[in-house]
Parts: sequence; structure tokens; C-alpha cells
Amino acid sequence: MEPSKEYVFKYKGFYFGVITTLEHVASLENFEINDSDIFIATYPKSGTVWTQNILALIMSEGHRNGTENMEMMDRIPWLEYNIKNADFATLPSPRIFATHLPYYLVPRDMRNKKGRIIYVTRNPKDVMVSYYHFSKFMNTVERIPDFNIFMERFLSGKVLASSWMDHVAGWYSHAEDFNILFLTYEEMKKDLRSAVLKICSFLGKKLSEEEVDSVVRQATFENMRKDPRANYENLPEELAEKNKGKFLRKGTVGDWKNIMTVAQSERFDKVLEERMKTLPIKFVWDI
Ligand code: A3P
Repeated sequence: MEPSKEYVFKYKGFYFGVITTLEHVASLENFEINDSDIFIATYPKSGTVWTQNILALIMSEGHRNGTENMEMMDRIPWLEYNIKNADFATLPSPRIFATHLPYYLVPRDMRNKKGRIIYVTRNPKDVMVSYYHFSKFMNTVERIPDFNIFMERFLSGKVLASSWMDHVAGWYSHAEDFNILFLTYEEMKKDLRSAVLKICSFLGKKLSEEEVDSVVRQATFENMRKDPRANYENLPEELAEKNKGKFLRKGTVGDWKNIMTVAQSERFDKVLEERMKTLPIKFVWDI
């Protein structure tokens, strides 16, 4: 079944949410990139907001430097969902964007290794379960209350952001075209400090030990959950029904086991197996 047109439109084979426009996404190909630009690229529900928060902290010398009062969407806007009509050209340098774009729809300059990309993946069963819960409170995401139907839609890529497999396989197999760092949600979860240091090294950012500690402390699930800006609590009511769910929901590895049946998990593995065999990633299903 196709996704409802009330929620998505298709551009070059990819499903975008209707909170953006075809003109805007088509214009991105020619969007001029600066060498200093930084992009967080993900498939939805893979740890985007977490990485946004970490980058906001790192780039503010570990203690935010006055940016603590900024909404995440202003500090690190979405490239393809420019909800607030920001003028990207006037954002302070280094500009930082978040995006769910597949590799083939990003600005052309990025393919010439301009800008830096941090691509975060998460084991796809947790992605799917997080996505399912997300769809219960986001008014911008089609609601599919039956989990089995949701899973079939996810596996066939008939959801906003299309196929998880295409997204991940696309970015991994075109890695050499980009200036890119791959991270996984699970490694961040297992050892956040190492992940923060990896990001700092990729961005050429030197932080003191204390500043790194401060980033790590502020980026834990518990502390981010208390921060209304990190938790996107100030999203307008028309986008999210905040009494029905939270952006920072559980923040664990392996939550899929609480909802997927053995049969569903086996079906998922089967669909995934063929496709992902050739990828240089091993998914961590539990820690
Ligand atoms: P769950 O729904 O499994 O809890 P995205 O930002 O890409 O939409 O991803 C959202 C997922 O990242 C949610 O997963 C959310 O809880 C999790 N997340 C956000 N911040 C986190 C943190 N500091 N630590 C662990 N998980 C976090």
C-alpha cells in the first residue's frame, strides 16, 4: 500500500513529508556548500536529535556559550524541512544542518567532498519500533496503529523517508564520494565519551577534558530528557501531540524485543539478510 498523500509526496523516488515543498527539495541540489558546513545525516529515528545535541554542545566549547536558549531547530535547522523559513546563507559559521536526505539528493557540492557529514545508523528493528511510537504522536507522520501493517510498510519503504535499507546501503556504498564519518547509535550508547571524541577529531575540534566531560554529561538520555529544547517540547501543537509521546522516549538498545513477535523478527531478518549482506556494518541488536 502506498503512503497517504495527506502526509508525503514523492520526489526522485524518495518520500518527503508535506511540511516541505517540492520546490525547496529540488532547489537543494544547487545549494552552495561551504567547506566549514557540517551535516548530520540519518534515516529517521536513528539518533538525529541526540547527535544534534552533541554537536551543539561540541561547537559551543562544551558549555553552549549562550546557545542554550536556542531551539534546536534554530541552532541546527533541517535542510529539507525549513519550517521556519531560515535564510541558510546567513547562518553563523560553521553552519550545522540535520537531514534525512538519501545520498543522491544532497547538494551537489557535497559530492565533491565539500562540508563534513556525520552519518548515524541504528539497528533497524529499534529504528522501526521507535518510528512506530513516533507515528502515534507526530501529526506529520501517517498513523498506522497496527504494528504488523506498520512493519510491512517499513520493510517495503512505503513510509516517510522511504526504505531504511536503501538509505543506509546508499550512504555506505557511496562513502568515498563524501567527507563522511559513520557512527552508530549503539556505539554512542555503549561509550558516549569515545563517540564524542571521534566527532571532535573528525571536526578538528579540540576540547579540554572538562569540556568533553560536560558534553557527555549533558548528552545523556536522562539529562537531555529534562531539557525541553533537546526534547523538542516546544514544537507547535499542529506538528506534535505532546501529551501522546516524547521525542526522547526510551533511548535503549533492544526495545524491539518488547514488541516484535518471534515470527515478525524472523520475517524482518529474512527481508534484511539478502540486502545487507554486502555492507560493512554489523548491527548490534542488544547491549
Ligand atoms: P526511542 O524511540 O527508541 O526512545 P531521532 O532523533 O533520529 O528521531 O531518534 C530518536 C530516538 O533517539 C529515540 O529512540 C530517542 O529516545 C533516542 N535518543 C535521543 N536522545 C538520546 C540520548 N541522549 N540517548 C539515547 N537515545 C536517545
